Amino acid sequence: MAGARTLHTTQPVEMDMEKKSTKMWGGRFSKDIDSSILAWTESITVDSHLVAEDLWGSMAHVAMLGSQGIIPANNAAAILDTLYKLQQDWIEGRWQWIPSQEDVHMNAEKMVIDALGMDVGGRMHTCRSRNDQVVLDSKLYARRRLLELRSRVVDAVEALLKKAEAHKDDVMVSYTHVQHAQPVSVAYWLTHYAGVLLRDLQRLKAAYDTTDQNPLGSGAIAGTSFPIDRQLTTDLMGFQEVHLHGMDATSSRDFMLESLSAATILQVTMSRLAEEFILWSSYEFRTLTLDDGFAMGSSMMPQKKNPGALELLRGRGGRAIGYLTAACTMMKGLPSGYNRDFHEDKELLVATMELMNKAVQVVPPLINSTTINLKRMEELSWGNFANATELANYLVAKHDVPFRRAHDIVGNENFSNTQFCFEHLKKWDIKAPESEVLAVLNPTHVMKTYTSLGATSPSSVSHIIDTYTAKLGEHRHVLQTDQTRVKRAYDASRSLASEAAKVVHNKDDLVKLIQKYRPTSH
Ligand code: ARG
Repeated sequence: MAGARTLHTTQPVEMDMEKKSTKMWGGRFSKDIDSSILAWTESITVDSHLVAEDLWGSMAHVAMLGSQGIIPANNAAAILDTLYKLQQDWIEGRWQWIPSQEDVHMNAEKMVIDALGMDVGGRMHTCRSRNDQVVLDSKLYARRRLLELRSRVVDAVEALLKKAEAHKDDVMVSYTHVQHAQPVSVAYWLTHYAGVLLRDLQRLKAAYDTTDQNPLGSGAIAGTSFPIDRQLTTDLMGFQEVHLHGMDATSSRDFMLESLSAATILQVTMSRLAEEFILWSSYEFRTLTLDDGFAMGSSMMPQKKNPGALELLRGRGGRAIGYLTAACTMMKGLPSGYNRDFHEDKELLVATMELMNKAVQVVPPLINSTTINLKRMEELSWGNFANATELANYLVAKHDVPFRRAHDIVGNENFSNTQFCFEHLKKWDIKAPESEVLAVLNPTHVMKTYTSLGATSPSSVSHIIDTYTAKLGEHRHVLQTDQTRVKRAYDASRSLASEAAKVVHNKDDLVKLIQKYRPTSH
């Protein structure tokens, strides 16, 4: 190694056996990394989100190395025991970073070597690279946070459907171009958010499935010449499948782009919802009243009740979009193989997941606590010709007027005065009984006649709610399956690691122990 180094220098280099670098990878280096460069390149700060995952990955790896006879089984058992203890330290807040070791991988390995000595601990990283390790950790982390996010979106959809159930008969005006459009039910408006959130769930699940493939065993880029068992590590970490191609697994971050983009689209959904609640709780609309718990006062204007939490739900959308943009930009020029640029991806992944998991949590209490001002909504539905379309429809259906002419007849006039309306129709030689016209001008009545598939009548909305409830049930079921698979594997790896030192004396013992805990593969 030292000899190889001399090829790159014009000065003769001391050939002593003492390592000049304190880094675990320091064999070929003549001195330590500059402290300011270390501070600039470290990833301990963001890696603090990956500690439990990194140790889990090492447990699976070491159990596999021992059971395949790649390292001695008793060494594997000792390492497993140390990894378990380190994980306990992390969980119970005793973990102490070694700042000179730049990231979580080097920290954990150093701790294992410090605990067991080089002869034993130094075997942990056999046929593994930080290139497969870091993408493994990122995937385990993304998986955990996506599960959380999915369950929060399930809660949000549930809150919307529950609220909607009570408002199938209540009328409000809908808007297009922020101008009065047609009367709809309050339940119809609420369930349209449930519809898009259900698709957000579907996108998150797709991103989850892309993420849920095991990259460990890819090595630095090309796999390995050791007889590894990738299915075993896949099972011990509860992955749905192996990420087959080593170069692809270490080079690609599309799972991250997909996760970020699903999360960002969800954030856009929530931002729009927030905007509508802000607008509708304003004095001009007054159709919603925010709970005091969601509002903030002004330091100067005593009368103010500002929708601060919702403004943040809207405003932070900018961040999510920025993180996704940063991730795509970071990726777009990278050649194959691991590139240190990937260091950046975890910052973006963690920031997005932190942001989103907190944001979605706001939605159910928002839905539950906001007062819908039904009287005000009904009042507005009478104003500003929200029934013009229906009057035109009436002329088409009952008086055989072509729609384009009906559009003209209705569009040119002001029907706020019903008397005027009758006179006007008479002018066009349309003999409409008063009772029929009055019904057509009644928003609640009209809303109830919109009975087509996906329309706003109570019966159509009941169908929508039933359909969405069934879909939500499916999502909940799939989510539970995913949660259980991950939890079983995590518990299995921990049990195995905690028992190893006691029961493993040779390879057979280790193989038996793994058999005892290995979750069945799929
Ligand atoms: N912090 C680094 C990252 O985020 C860890 C891996 C460094 N890997 C390497 N092969 N040099 O990617």
